[in-house]
Amino acid sequence: MNDVLKAIKSRRSARNFSDKQIKDNELQAVLEAAQYAPTAGAQSWQFIIVQKEDLINELSNASKEVAKNHEIEFIKGLANNQDYNTFYNAPTVIIVCGDENPWAAADCAAATQNILLAAESVGLAACWINFGLFVFSSESGSKYNELFGVQKGYKPLYSVALGYRKGEVPTAAPRKKNVVTYIK
Ligand SMILES: Cc1cc2nc3c(=O)[nH]c(=O)nc-3n(C[C@H](O)[C@H](O)[C@H](O)COP(=O)(O)O)c2cc1C
Repeated sequence: MNDVLKAIKSRRSARNFSDKQIKDNELQAVLEAAQYAPTAGAQSWQFIIVQKEDLINELSNASKEVAKNHEIEFIKGLANNQDYNTFYNAPTVIIVCGDENPWAAADCAAATQNILLAAESVGLAACWINFGLFVFSSESGSKYNELFGVQKGYKPLYSVALGYRKGEVPTAAPRKKNVVTYIK
């Protein structure tokens, strides 16, 4: 199996991170991969790198506060769990913001997947996180846009918790069957 296929198959979300900050060359490799993602929206992205623990925790707590009113019980349950940190105490969080281009969400999703795969390939662990962004779409959104340096015309769409994995790599859930249709 080649290295790309190996990274795709062995990547698994991390939800337990060591305190150690990632190296700058690893971060740069991941960010470069993000910016080489396919794009239909003329690279409709902004990447915000947060490595301040107190700011990451503030975002987590503010988003949990918003999620306490969520219609989905599972999400409400997590929001009310004091031990739940939406970024799992990762030392680095990348917030992927999209602009107003109609393809921004697709561009940013492709970039986010590149981040996850590049992280895997350089020995980092990562988890795609949307829970931690709830506050940006709440009435406090503009305050948090300013706090995190979201550029005008952009909005946070996805984020990634990034660091070194603590503990075992989980096994992938079995893949769903009958999802491929061949027309020959
Ligand atoms: C759009 C999106 C949002 C996600 N948000 C979260 C999240 O907020 N918290 C979390 O722990 N995992 C989140 N995940 C990760 C998924 O739970 C994970 O990818 C899935 O369980 C499959 O596991 P794997 O990544 O190990 O293959 C998200 C994934 C996607 C694609």
